[in-house]
Parts: sequence; C-alpha cells; structure tokens
Amino acid sequence: MYRTHHNNELRDSDAGSEATLVGWVHSARDHGGVIFIDLRDREGLTQCVFRPEENADAAKLSHDLRQEDVVQVIGKVSKRLDGTLNDALPTGGIEIVATELKILSKAAVLPFQLDKELSNEDLRMKHRYLDLRRPRMAQNVRTRHKVSNAIRVGLDAAGFTEVETPILSKSTPEGARDFLVPSRLAPGRFYALPQAPQQYKQLLMVAGVEKYFQIARCFRDEDLRADRQPEFTQVDIEQSFTDPEQLYSLVEGLLVSAFKAGADADVKTGFPRMTYQEAMDRYGSDKPDTRFGSEIVDFSDTFASSGFKVFKGTIEKGGTVRAINAKGFACITTGQIKRLEELAKEAGAGGLAYIKVEGGEWKSPIVKFFSDEEKAAVTERLALEEGDLVLFGCDTWQTVCDVLGRLRLEYAEMQKVLEGNTDLNFLWVTDFPLLAFDADDQKWNAVHHPFTRPHPEDEEKLKNGEYEGVRGLAYDVVLNGYELGGGSMRIHEPELQQAMFTALGVTGDEQEEMFGHLLEAFGYGAPPHGGIALGLDRVVMLVAGEESIREVIAFPKNNKGLDLMTASPAEVDFKQLREIYVKSTFQEKKE
Ligand code: AMO
Ligand code: AMP
Repeated sequence: MYRTHHNNELRDSDAGSEATLVGWVHSARDHGGVIFIDLRDREGLTQCVFRPEENADAAKLSHDLRQEDVVQVIGKVSKRLDGTLNDALPTGGIEIVATELKILSKAAVLPFQLDKELSNEDLRMKHRYLDLRRPRMAQNVRTRHKVSNAIRVGLDAAGFTEVETPILSKSTPEGARDFLVPSRLAPGRFYALPQAPQQYKQLLMVAGVEKYFQIARCFRDEDLRADRQPEFTQVDIEQSFTDPEQLYSLVEGLLVSAFKAGADADVKTGFPRMTYQEAMDRYGSDKPDTRFGSEIVDFSDTFASSGFKVFKGTIEKGGTVRAINAKGFACITTGQIKRLEELAKEAGAGGLAYIKVEGGEWKSPIVKFFSDEEKAAVTERLALEEGDLVLFGCDTWQTVCDVLGRLRLEYAEMQKVLEGNTDLNFLWVTDFPLLAFDADDQKWNAVHHPFTRPHPEDEEKLKNGEYEGVRGLAYDVVLNGYELGGGSMRIHEPELQQAMFTALGVTGDEQEEMFGHLLEAFGYGAPPHGGIALGLDRVVMLVAGEESIREVIAFPKNNKGLDLMTASPAEVDFKQLREIYVKSTFQEKKE
C-alpha cells in the first residue's frame, strides 16, 4: 500500500498515529540541518519534517530532496507547536515527523515554476504535463469531468441513449473545412473526420432510437480563436416527436446541473428568449452579451434629410444610421479611437463618426452639420450625459449591426465595464433566418445547416424558390456573449430536403451523390425530429471562469493548430505516404 491518507486529510485528532503519505515535493526548506517539506498530491499539502534523532538515514537522504521529486514518507502525526500553525492549510495544525523516506522518482530542474502564472503559453504547452500540475489547471481537469458527468447523468435520467458514431466518416456540410484521411484500401479516396455527427444522429432517428445523445469529438479545420479548437467536444442531442419547447427545458436542466456540479452556482431555468432580429437590432450580434446596456438606437428617421451628407446619402440608398452610447467613455484616448476605427473598418464601415460629450459641449468633427432637432433627438434617445461617447454606424443594416455590435463589446473591454460582474446571462436566440445570401459568391447559404426545417409558414416559399425572409426553426443558447450551443427542428421529408438542397445550389446529381443515403432513409418512414449540440469546451470554460477553451482541454492545440508537446502535425515516411497513395505538393519556400 503506497499510502494511508491523502495529503489533505490529517488533523489534530490524528496526532499520535502513524501515517504513510506519497506525493511530489512541493517545497523543501532547510532549518539548521532539519529539513521541512510540503508534500503535495492531487488533494492537498502536508508538512513533513526530517529530524536526525528520529532516523539518521532518512534525515540524511532528505537533504538531497529537490522540488517535484516523488517520495513516500512514513512517520508520526504530531501537533505543530504554537506559532508554527498554518491556517491557510486544512492540515496546517499537524506535521508528519518522518521516520522513513523513500525516493520514488527524481525530478530534474523544471522549465518553469509551478506556483507562478506563466504568460509564455508555448512553454506551458510544450510541457503540458507539468502545466497540469498547477492547482488551477488540476482544478479545471476535474471541473470538466464534473460537468460532463452531470450532463451525462441528466441525459440518462431523461431517457436518452448514448450512441457512438463514426470518426472515419463522410464530409458533412457544417460550414467549416474538413480534415481528410486517405484510405489505403480504397485508393484515391478519403474519409472526412466529422465536423459534427449531424447526419448520423438524424439517421438514428430514422432507426427508431428516439432519444440519442453523444459526448462527441468533432473536427473542423478553421482558423482558431480563444473559443475555437480544431478538435472539440459537443454534447450532441437528437430527439424524435419533439418540439423546441421540450428541447429548451431539457437543455436548461442540463446547464443548471452543469453549473451546480462544476461551480456550485445556482442557475434558474426559464432562460429569457429573444428573436434573431431583436438580438441584431439591439446588440448587433446573434449572441448578445446582455450583462450591460449601451444598446443600439436607430436614428434613420432623425437623419433622413440631415445636413451631414454621409448619413443622408446612406439613408437615401436604403441604408441605416444607428448609434450606441459608450457610457462614460468620453475619456477615450486617441489610440483607442484609432483602434475602434480599425475595428469598424474591418467590419465593413467606411469610417467611424463619433461625439464626445465633454465639458458641457459636443466634441466631434461632424456636429457642425447637425440641426438642433437632430442634436435633441440624439441626446434624448441615447440618454446622453456629461462624459459619454456616441459611436455611429452608417451603412446597410447588416454592416451597421456588425460594426456597432463589435464596437459595443470593444468599448466594454476597454472601459472594463464588466469588471467584477458575476452574472450568468443565459439567453435563447430564436427565429434565425434559414438562408443568407452571399453577395461575393452570389448564392444562398444555410445559416445553420442544410437539415434545418423552415418555419411552417415559409415552407411554400422555399419550395417556390422565394428565399428572401424564409425563417428557420433554429435556436441558439447563449451565455454572456458566447454561443454555447445551437440546434433546430429538422427536415424529415425527402421533397422538402431536396428543395433545401436546391436553394443551396446543390444540383440533382450532387444531391444523390452526397446525400442519397439521407434522402433514401427519409423515404422509409422518418419521424419528425430535432436536436441541438452544446459546445462542451465552452460550457466548461464558463463554469470554470476561464477566458479560453485551451484552459479546459487537457491537451489542446495552440493558436496555430500545433501540438507543441508531441510536435504534431509532423512529417511522415515516404513509405507511409506511398501506402495510402498520397504525394505531397508542398514545396519549401526558397529564401
Ligand atoms: P454548431 O456548428 O452550431 O452546430 O456547433 C454546436 C456548438 O459547438 C461548439 N463549437 C465549437 N467549440 C469549440 N471549437 C470549435 N471549433 C467549435 N465549433 C463549434 C459551439 C457551437 O454552439 N450539428 C449542429 C448541431 C445541431 O444542429 O444539432 C452543429 O454542429 O459551442
Ligand atoms: P467625412 O465627411 O468623409 O470627412 O467624414 C466625416 C466623419 O464621418 C468622419 O469621422 C468619418 O470617419 C465618418 N464617416 C465617413 N463615412 C462613414 C461611414 N460610412 N460610416 C460611419 N462614419 C463615417
């Protein structure tokens, strides 16, 4: 037996008994020839002391101990003397007076200290196994388990069956690029890693499973961000004979359990709802952070015949002029204004018009063009006060939403509007459009994916090829500005599915080739069905109060998609490539 106790367990009441502990040497101190160590295991720390009079050999050996050595200590639990108690530790009232020491494994000097925050993420990733020893990361690993376990238990209790679907599968159009796996047995052909188990879970509904879930690994070859990884985990759910209300209440229940299990937080069910249109109009985003105001206000009527030509001209062309009040941010620096201007332009704006309300006057290059009525309307509808900053967006509806949505978040970030805020603002965003027109490609794309059902009132329009304004029965669950999950009611009729493919420009032959299996399956008695997938990494990130999903994934990729620890992706033998009929076209750039 390696140990009798974990390192968080022993108390005053254990004094006099013998204990055997194992763990890592968290720290070692030499007090005039007497060695004190804090011994760490996954549960906590216990102080051990090595005195020559107890066991001369052990005491001698203890002088060799280095941080992170793995040891076993046998000794007597003793109350610490007054003045040496450590209130910060549950075991701070006792220490182990060691009679035996066994060094199980020696540690070399570590590449970084474990008790300090480390900003060099690459170094952390290269030695992730050490990074995971740090208390915060160790905690995150366990929190993730608690969250996924709570969700699994919840789904089981609700009668859902977990089914594993293939990793070697066929390309699903979820909107990102696929990771491909060349086949050895079928030369020249490729599997795709699943972007989501979407088609399989729908086929399981045709199979009569009725209530499916899977904690499923998904793969998307897209550009990475703090909340995106090339492989990530979904809590994937599908149910037959259901409706959105039933799914909302299921998912709310799961999220309540997840936050309780992982953070002991009490979330209330009955999440607010908001249509996509309202979310865009008020917050300029389909995943609005509703923890603060600065909502978007429409001034198109105010400026329809304005002396400011930029505004008037845009409105005449069918565009819109809207603004937010960046409350208390008239103190913005020139550098920050520049940054906001860049952001606005990235989002498609021609420029950034703004007004600072400072020293009782409006400081802005554009107010000289404003009439008194226009000024009064802006003051009143934005509830302007001394110290405020007005930011305008003036373009098409879509661009203005995007611009002001981003500026609103950036203002909150710059002005630390959310500092100390502990709210959990869950929200259902509903009534997404089914299709969006891509002006560059001159084609319609699925806003969610091609299997989402149109709103019953818009079905005929879809079948008749009138795509503008067709609504989808799709919904997202949002928390504090993050999209936690998304889903929809699905199409289960072959004709309607074909009409949807046609809308997306998929021809009859392509439909047969890519989706023939699904269209055929729908012909053999397909139940009405719908579902949702939650991003587990994002849920755990928010439960753990982290700002990146990398902090809650044991072995994540860095922001370039690399695993620095194992150095992957890596080159492979020519022989391996030949076996799978692959030849690289990559050429090193010549200097
Ligand atoms: P969707 O594409 O919206 O829907 O994905 C569902 C949820 O998965 C999470 N997610 C990600 N998390 C980390 N890294 C990524 N690269 C990443 N991409 C997505 C998000 C997102 O809300 N098959 C549909 C679901 C359905 O219709 O049932 C789907 O995959 O939290
Ligand atoms: P101008 O009349 O072009 O000098 O622009 C006056 C102000 O309006 C400047 O602050 C510009 O950044 C801003 N502006 C110009 N075009 C736009 C636009 N399309 N959207 C928002 N602001 C704009």
